[in-house]
Amino acid sequence: MNYNPCFHLLLALFIPCSVVCLAMTVRNLNSDQFALLEFKDSIAGPQNVLANNWTASTSVCNWIGVSCGIIHKRVIALNLTSMNLGGTIPLHLGNLSFLLSLDLSSNHFYGHLPKELGQLHRLRILQLSYNRLNGELPSWLGNLQRVRRLNMKNNNFTGTIPETLVNISNLEILNLGFNQLSGQVPSSIFKISSLKVINLSSNSLSGSLPNDTCQHLPKLEGLYLSWNELSGNIPSSMGKCSNLKNLSSSYNQFMGIIPRSIGNLTRLQELYLESNNLEGNQFP
Ligand SMILES: *[C@@H]1O[C@H](CO)[C@@H](O)[C@H](O)[C@H]1NC(C)=O
Ligand SMILES: *[C@@H]1O[C@H](CO)[C@@H](O)[C@H](O)[C@H]1NC(C)=O
Ligand SMILES: *[C@@H]1O[C@H](CO)[C@@H](O)[C@H](O)[C@H]1NC(C)=O
Ligand SMILES: *[C@@H]1O[C@H](CO)[C@@H](O)[C@H](O)[C@H]1NC(C)=O
Ligand SMILES: *[C@@H]1O[C@H](CO)[C@@H](O)[C@H](O)[C@H]1NC(C)=O
Ligand SMILES: *[C@@H]1O[C@H](CO)[C@@H](O)[C@H](O)[C@H]1NC(C)=O
Ligand SMILES: *[C@@H]1O[C@H](CO)[C@@H](O)[C@H](O)[C@H]1NC(C)=O
Ligand SMILES: *[C@@H]1O[C@H](CO)[C@@H](O)[C@H](O)[C@H]1NC(C)=O
Ligand SMILES: *[C@@H]1O[C@H](CO)[C@@H](O)[C@H](O)[C@H]1NC(C)=O
Repeated sequence: MNYNPCFHLLLALFIPCSVVCLAMTVRNLNSDQFALLEFKDSIAGPQNVLANNWTASTSVCNWIGVSCGIIHKRVIALNLTSMNLGGTIPLHLGNLSFLLSLDLSSNHFYGHLPKELGQLHRLRILQLSYNRLNGELPSWLGNLQRVRRLNMKNNNFTGTIPETLVNISNLEILNLGFNQLSGQVPSSIFKISSLKVINLSSNSLSGSLPNDTCQHLPKLEGLYLSWNELSGNIPSSMGKCSNLKNLSSSYNQFMGIIPRSIGNLTRLQELYLESNNLEGNQFP
C-alpha cells in the first residue's frame, strides 16, 4: 500500500480544527439566537408577529426580518420595519457582532438606546426613525465608524448633537429631523466630507452656522435646517457646496443678506429661505 505519512499529519490537524471551528460557529450562532430571543421577550404585547415565528425550533436565519451571511451563517441584518412592535431596545442586541444593518423604523419602540449598541462595529446602516425613542443621542454613536446611513428622525431625542459623530468618517446620510434636539450644531459635523444629506429640520437647534459650513462638504446634495431657532448669517461659503440640490433653511432666525455665492450653486433645484429675518427684497 502506498502509505503517505503526510496524509496522517493532515488528518491529525484537520479533525481537531474542524471540531473547534464547528464548535465556534455553533456557539456564535447560539449567541445570536440568544440575543434575538431576549429581544423578542422585551417586546411588549404577546400578539406580535414575532411571537410564533422566532422560535428555537427553527434556525434564526429563517426567522422573519433576520438575514444571515451566506458563508459564516451569522446574523448580518435585522429589518423589522412597520411591524407594530413596541417596547424598549434591549442591550442584548449589542451581541449581534456581525450585524451590518439594523432597521427598526416605524414601530413603537421607546426609552433610551442601550450603550451596548456601540459594540456593533461592523454596522453600516442604523435606522430607528418613526419610533418614540428618547433621552440624549448617545456619544457612543461615534464608535460606529463604518455607518453610512444614520436615520433617527421622528423620535423624541433631546439634548445636543454629539460631537463624536465626526468620527463616523464614511457617513453619507445623517437624518435627525423631528426630534427635540437643542443647542448648537457642532461645527465638526460639517467636516464629515462623505456627507450627502444632512437633515436636522424640526428641532430646537440654535446658534449660528460656522463660516466654513461648506468648505469640506463636496458631496452634499441636501441640507435641511428648517423649523429650528438658528440665527446669524447664511454663510457665504454655502456657494462651495457645489453639488447642493436642495437647501431648506426656512422658519429660523437667520439674518443679514442672502450671500451672492448661492448663485454659484448650479445644481440647485429647491431653495427655501422664507420666514427668517433676511434683508433685501431681491434674490441675487
Ligand atoms: C417565519 O416567517 C418566515 C418569513 O415570513 C417564514 O418563511 C417562516 O416559515 C416562518 N417560520 C415559522 C416557524 O413560522
Ligand atoms: C427594510 O424593509 C423595508 C420594507 O421591506 C424596506 O423598505 C427597507 O429599505 C429595508 N431596510 C433596509 C435597511 O434594507
Ligand atoms: C453577550 O455575549 C457574551 C459572550 O458570549 C455573554 O457573556 C454575555 O452574557 C452576552 N450579553 C448579553 C447582554 O447578551
Ligand atoms: C415626546 O415627548 C413629549 C413630552 O416630552 C410628549 O408629549 C410627546 O407625545 C412625545 N412624542 C412621542 C412621539 O413620543
Ligand atoms: C474620535 O476618535 C479618536 C480616536 O478613537 C478619539 O481620540 C477622539 O477623541 C474622537 N473624537 C471625538 C470628537 O469623539
Ligand atoms: C428632512 O426631514 C424632514 C423632517 O423629518 C422631512 O419632512 C423631510 O422629508 C426630510 N427630507 C429628506 C430629504 O430626508
Ligand atoms: C463669521 O464671519 C462673520 C462676518 O464675516 C464674523 O463677524 C464672525 O465673527 C465669523 N464667525 C466665526 C465663528 O468665525
Ligand atoms: C431634493 O428634492 C427633491 C424633490 O423634493 C427630492 O425628490 C430629492 O430626493 C431631494 N434630494 C435630496 C438629495 O435631498
Ligand atoms: C462663484 O464661483 C466662481 C468660480 O469658482 C468664483 O470665482 C466666484 O468668486 C464665486 N462667486 C461667489 C459670489 O462666491
